[in-house]
Amino acid sequence: MNVIRVPDYEAMSKRAADFLTARIKELPSPVIGLATGSTPKGMYKQLIHACRMEKISFRHVTTFNLDEYIGLPASDPNSYHSFMRKTFFQHMDIPPEQIYIPDGEAVLLENECTRYESLIDKKGVDVQVLGIGQNGHIGFNEPGTPFDQTTHVTTLTDSTRQANARFFSSIESVPKQAITMGIASIMKSREILLLASGPHKAEAVARLFSGNVLEAFPASVLQDHPHVTIIVDDEAFSLVSRKEEKYD
Ligand code: PGA
Repeated sequence: MNVIRVPDYEAMSKRAADFLTARIKELPSPVIGLATGSTPKGMYKQLIHACRMEKISFRHVTTFNLDEYIGLPASDPNSYHSFMRKTFFQHMDIPPEQIYIPDGEAVLLENECTRYESLIDKKGVDVQVLGIGQNGHIGFNEPGTPFDQTTHVTTLTDSTRQANARFFSSIESVPKQAITMGIASIMKSREILLLASGPHKAEAVARLFSGNVLEAFPASVLQDHPHVTIIVDDEAFSLVSRKEEKYD
């Protein structure tokens, strides 16, 4: 894993935007896997700025989002459809037909998972952007998710619902299920860019560097991917050396 240490969130966001910009300029039809959450927001802001300044265009880019809640209409302010529209897509020049997000309102959820995975296989993701959950989840692949799972319906852990409750009026209104790309779907990406910032991510980052690949800690699978870059700020990196040998 290629580790880029930066001082803070701002620097992480800038570095991540530069990383994606370089790929988007060099690839003829880039396919980028996108993530929601607080972590990539600064990167999106940087990319929007670059697009406004006409330093970059996303017209030739296709995007795949990692996940979507089940049971929230796409129009709900807390759906990931809404998050992506407000945070990124409405400011960018990506043609809508090149934007893919799992449909959490699908009547036949299993069919939706199969459809989404086939699209991923057909287009092939060049770079997948990931955050990391405090429990080590990537996408909504919670601890214990088998590494061979592709896009699937998952039940969110209490800790993930608690972590995401800050966006909802109450914990009860946080959906209990989601559709997520599986670990196997993520591992098919040619390249992975993982971002981590802040002291609340320090434990998870330390464990990621612990050297043990375990389904109990989903992000650890990235150690088996040939092309991973991690952009991590000082706070998120702060426990790496001390915790390195403590997990097994
Ligand atoms: P965050 O979420 O970016 O809001 O911290 C990351 C994640 O849970 O994967």
